Amino acid sequence: MDQERERLARDLHDILGHSLTTIRLKAGLVRRLLEVSGDLGTAAREAGDVERLSSQALADVRATVSGYRQVTLSGELVTAKEALRVAGIRARMPRAVDDVHPELHEVFGHVLREAVTNVVRHSSAREVTVGLGGNWLEVSDDGTGAGGRWGNGLRGLAERVRAAGGTLEASPRERGGFVVRATVPSRQG
Ligand SMILES: Nc1ncnc2c1ncn2[C@@H]1O[C@H](COP(=O)(O)OP(=O)(O)OP(=O)(O)O)[C@@H](O)[C@H]1O
Ligand SMILES: [Mg+2]
Repeated sequence: MDQERERLARDLHDILGHSLTTIRLKAGLVRRLLEVSGDLGTAAREAGDVERLSSQALADVRATVSGYRQVTLSGELVTAKEALRVAGIRARMPRAVDDVHPELHEVFGHVLREAVTNVVRHSSAREVTVGLGGNWLEVSDDGTGAGGRWGNGLRGLAERVRAAGGTLEASPRERGGFVVRATVPSRQG
């Protein structure tokens, strides 16, 4: 039961942390569009996104509670691009995820999702770069790199990566900014 509770806590954290961050940014964008530019067409389109993202989050919560939710690396790449676009952060992303060992797609999907959520929430970055290979994934930003005590997000990720046989590093970069890197030594692409 304790294990099941932990799984649920981790999954809900990862799903809602990301979805609500994007929804909040988009809702702010809609408000500013209405208050400042009066661009109704764009406001309506962004409001439509808020509606769609909310429905998706609701479906994700339901699937998580019943244990059916699947996280995919390619899906997370798409939502990460969207979250960064809305936050006004330039994204340098791989086009495809085929290089990554198939058994690592799910756990790296979680790493990408939480690392990008953290970039949006904590970094004040202008640019983020995602790199990947057969057995590694890295999310690096040029923000404050302030770091801080690990919370549920990074602790949950470290636990997921450890369960896959790998390690998670998350620290300020030497040249400024912050980097999160997951490596699973036993897996090749
Ligand atoms: N890209 C980043 N740039 C700067 N600081 C970061 C970055 N990512 C994480 N941090 C720091 O590391 C801390 C821990 O991150 P973590 O994801 O564990 O917790 P959190 O995001 O604060 O809360 P949550 O448990 O909801 O994820 C953050 O509070 C923040 O101070
Ligand atoms: Mg976090």
